[in-house]
Amino acid sequence: MRISGKTSVCGIIANPVEHSMSPVLHNYYAERTGKDMVYVPFKVPEESVEQAIAGAYAMNIQGMSVTVPHKQSVISYLADIDADAKAIGAVNTLVRMDGGYKGYNTDAAGLLRAMKEDGIVISNRPCILLGAGGAAKAAAYILAKEGAEEIVILNRNVSRAKELAEDINRLMGRSLTTARAISDWEALPKKKYLVVQTTSVGMHPNTEQAPIEDAAFYELAEAAVDVIYTPMETKFMSLAKAAGAKVMGGLNMLVYQGVIAYELWNPEVTVRAEDMDGARNLVLEFLGSRK
Ligand code: ATR
Repeated sequence: MRISGKTSVCGIIANPVEHSMSPVLHNYYAERTGKDMVYVPFKVPEESVEQAIAGAYAMNIQGMSVTVPHKQSVISYLADIDADAKAIGAVNTLVRMDGGYKGYNTDAAGLLRAMKEDGIVISNRPCILLGAGGAAKAAAYILAKEGAEEIVILNRNVSRAKELAEDINRLMGRSLTTARAISDWEALPKKKYLVVQTTSVGMHPNTEQAPIEDAAFYELAEAAVDVIYTPMETKFMSLAKAAGAKVMGGLNMLVYQGVIAYELWNPEVTVRAEDMDGARNLVLEFLGSRK
């Protein structure tokens, strides 16, 4: 890559940022799509988010990724926000426009694209959502918007689950979503659900854990989606697979949220399927070299 005076600059704001895979992926897409663009990490502490956004705009930065811990706080400093990101209450991508940045949530869009591609049906299906944190919010919104028949949120902290259920019901204008303690799963009506796992349980290095350990729970799963991508196959996924469910891990969601962001910054290009395969390999390489 040759950087010149014409090179456009994008980046990621996070804290910490050192472990981010995004610079590797976006610079790869720039190279593969022939864009004169460079993507760099910016370590921004929480108290500096406002200054960072204003400074980035002043320095003609074209787009930014936003990750932990800034996905909510950044919303106060945007010129505009996409309707989905607003409903979810979290932004992970900023696109430069006149007067500031517009915020998007490509985590949600990435999850939906990955599920669609794997043929996982949401419409008219009963769904179980494990977790009630940030990732759960994006997933709950997708399930609701794509026409889930019902959504049961199971979380360790029940009041957090109730809050999320109320948010979704308010948004949809009907009582689509209910909440329970995760330990109460046995009280659920026995049928086949789409189960979406968004807790951090089972993530590297705690790969021997699952949010629900009892194999009987997985009899309820027709399909099981985990947003975790380290490991590639979580214990949640192995348990679901053993019970006969169709399973999906978080790798494609990770890749697609990045591709969707890249295409928002560069609307004239489309990342090709072979370059997404290349991106998956880069992720695997990155994760392999991390230990
Ligand atoms: P994220 O943005 O990745 O979703 P988060 O907002 O911190 O992260 O949410 C983490 C989720 O994992 C929550 O649903 C959390 O449950 P609580 O709301 O009860 O804290 C869940 N989680 C984390 N550790 C857990 C554990 N050991 N057992 C069960 N759930 C756990």
